Amino acid sequence: MKKGLTILLILLMVLGISTFAFAAKKIGVAMPTQSLQRWNQDGANMKAQLEAEGYIVDLQYANNNVATQVSQIENMILGGCDILVIASIDGSSLGTVLKIAKEEGIPVIAYDRLIMETDAVSYYATFDNYMVGTIQGTYIKDVLNLDSRTADDPVYMEFFGGSPDDNNARYFFGGAWDVIKPYIDKGVVVVPSGQTEFEQIATLEWDSARAQARMDNLIAAHYSAGQRLDAVLCSNDSTALGVTNSLSGAGFDKNNFPYITGQDCDIANTKNIIAGYQSMSIFKDTRTLAAQVVKMIKAISEGKEPEINNTTDYHNGVKIVPTYLCEPVFADINNYKELLIDSGYYTPEQLGL
Ligand code: BGC
Repeated sequence: MKKGLTILLILLMVLGISTFAFAAKKIGVAMPTQSLQRWNQDGANMKAQLEAEGYIVDLQYANNNVATQVSQIENMILGGCDILVIASIDGSSLGTVLKIAKEEGIPVIAYDRLIMETDAVSYYATFDNYMVGTIQGTYIKDVLNLDSRTADDPVYMEFFGGSPDDNNARYFFGGAWDVIKPYIDKGVVVVPSGQTEFEQIATLEWDSARAQARMDNLIAAHYSAGQRLDAVLCSNDSTALGVTNSLSGAGFDKNNFPYITGQDCDIANTKNIIAGYQSMSIFKDTRTLAAQVVKMIKAISEGKEPEINNTTDYHNGVKIVPTYLCEPVFADINNYKELLIDSGYYTPEQLGL
């Protein structure tokens, strides 16, 4: 009898310990908005991949509202999340809530966008933001043959950047600018609006309507008498969409449509690439980024160091955040099938094919 009780007790202890050891970890995933296609994919990929690994997921979207995102993160902390993954809306507005996370010992991974001005962010995973810009700039340099032109035969170009509260936006513009600037200095590239400072070309919230309104103004001021516009360097697809709508509305057509860059390979923009109204978009396979972040989460859960490949470039104002950079590539009319359809990212039907 006594022996039986002892065995029962041991059994209960073992069961208790193993339940504790294997208790599913809960991961809070805070995404900025559902209004842009990419974040829906990021969220869905994160949730699916984490659940496949046995994690419990609290996925929230904040409608691009900073206060909403802060309260969602507070609730994740109160709700017992063990690790937080955050794609911030305003990278500098999370210091207070993340102080609580730090006090609770909750590791924080900045997803795609760096979280600024806090020591509570543990890791950062993103696509190489500066490289995104250099690929866009190089694309324009190549298609317009900037190397073989002179100031007697310049090209005309405008710039559209991202949201000033998103730390990525300056990296994207910086990368593109570093490629194009030497040609501006030589007079080979002319920017008729004269707007080349980040503050002048930025687009709050990456909003298509704002980009469209600015392009409308530029057309009215500089291109309404049939002047040539050869390229519009847009940092991403939502800004490219606004610019394309504006140009189409103003009567630009296939005969004089400028080269337009983008980023994300959103469906609407990929359709524009196929139709000849956008030249390229950066392809950042959200499955790859999600997989990398899930790997980080697994390592942290097992008490190991996550894989990182950059320890120099991403200073958030308080510290250098250990980072994993994925490599972006560009899609255009020549390779979109292979990149986007053959890889299973989109079905032909989604692209109207
Ligand atoms: C992302 C881009 C995206 C933009 C707008 C950036 O932080 O890196 O992929 O286009 O936000 O959502």
